[in-house]
Amino acid sequence: MKIIFKSPKGIPDILPSEQKYWDFVKKIVETRSMAFGFEKLELPIFEDAKLYQKGTGLSSDIVQKEMYEVRRLGAENEEDEKDVKFALRPEFTPGVCRSYVEHGMFTRPQPVKLLSIGPLFRHDKPQKGRFRQFNQFNMEVIGNSDPLTDALLILLVWQIYADLGLKNEVVLKINNTGCKKCQPKIRKNIIAALENSRTRLCVDCQNKIYTNPLRVLDCKNESCQKIVANLPHIIDIICPDCKKHFMEVLEYLDELKVPYDLNPFLVRGFDYYTSTTFEICDKKDPTKKATLGGGGRYDNLIALYGGNDTPAIGFAGGFERIIDRIKEIEVKVPETSKTDIFIIQIGKQAKKIALNLIADLTEKHYHVSCAVGKDTLSSQLKVANKVRAKLAIIIGQRELLDKTVIIKDMRDTTQETVEMTELEGVLNDKLQREE
Ligand code: HAM
Repeated sequence: MKIIFKSPKGIPDILPSEQKYWDFVKKIVETRSMAFGFEKLELPIFEDAKLYQKGTGLSSDIVQKEMYEVRRLGAENEEDEKDVKFALRPEFTPGVCRSYVEHGMFTRPQPVKLLSIGPLFRHDKPQKGRFRQFNQFNMEVIGNSDPLTDALLILLVWQIYADLGLKNEVVLKINNTGCKKCQPKIRKNIIAALENSRTRLCVDCQNKIYTNPLRVLDCKNESCQKIVANLPHIIDIICPDCKKHFMEVLEYLDELKVPYDLNPFLVRGFDYYTSTTFEICDKKDPTKKATLGGGGRYDNLIALYGGNDTPAIGFAGGFERIIDRIKEIEVKVPETSKTDIFIIQIGKQAKKIALNLIADLTEKHYHVSCAVGKDTLSSQLKVANKVRAKLAIIIGQRELLDKTVIIKDMRDTTQETVEMTELEGVLNDKLQREE
């Protein structure tokens, strides 16, 4: 019996026809973040699982139920596998902080601004916009606590989504969820308020009241949402320092004309966040779950990993959800894979000339293609049409004798005979023609 392999559930291939969208997003992210002085950091795909348990946090869904363990097949009983457990990275932030501490990046001018792009892994229920392997662009600014840093990162994020053509499709939600000093007070207040309506909460939220009360604010259940709407606002509970920080961030955003939606119930499902938190949400997402990006301050994480007390803030955007949205609203993205010139040969002798021409033109960085194994003019022209080549160069018996070629413009089907010696000049002229 034939075995037909398929990609694992929730882990899609990114096909050639999709690549132009990925290139489009990547280019915008890289160009915009480089303008703000970001440098690229590439991290391992798997790390010590404790890194995430400690950072992302034991109370997060990620650590509780979504991480993939990595081990060598058949190594279950090996001694050295027992000491350290590896996990596929579920997010970038802990790895970036580990790298900052490990490589002494605190000795460099602060803040250090790091951009990472790549795949992440979370065992979630696959559905629209939710995959088990997905990709993020992740930006961290480590080593500065000024509210101006928050505002500048948010400005960069806003510029990126505007360049992506999503300015009118998304809303930037912002909140301040307090520092480590005021978080116990916030927790106490929220628990007290929730206790009054305990029986009207969904079972899941009832279980969270004492373990992770802030996650109740995130519940999409309608009856829970009604209770959440009457909870005290976190911004009214936070300490004066957090309040001052938050007011300054908003003031700078006003100055920069970055529109935001102050959302007193915005909380994020990671243990490391302190102070400013923000999300880029799709205005039309009825579930309000599929955020296009999210981030916030995490002023204690570097110290938690053995570094000095180092404030930091970051953000990550999700490629798959962004690409879905730009396709839905038909944002025009440039074609990245293209065939400019298609070489057609008729006859054995012509094949050799064609071969040399391909070597010569690709050496000079033209985008060239041909139909290997097809010999007739019409079958080769058919392929040239399919790959949407701009020009076809036809080499036949007659052209061989005359040391000429025929250039057929596939866009308007005109054609002319050109001396081999003049070929490059004519190609350049024609390729420069406006579409
Ligand atoms: P996050 O909110 O978990 O934050 O993820 C950021 C974005 O990644 C989401 O808004 C979404 O677009 C995308 N995303 C997350 N999970 C999935 C999934 N299962 N399928 C498809 N897309 C997904 C973080 O990861 C934080 N580390 C962000 C951060 C950086 N905070 C500070 N610095």
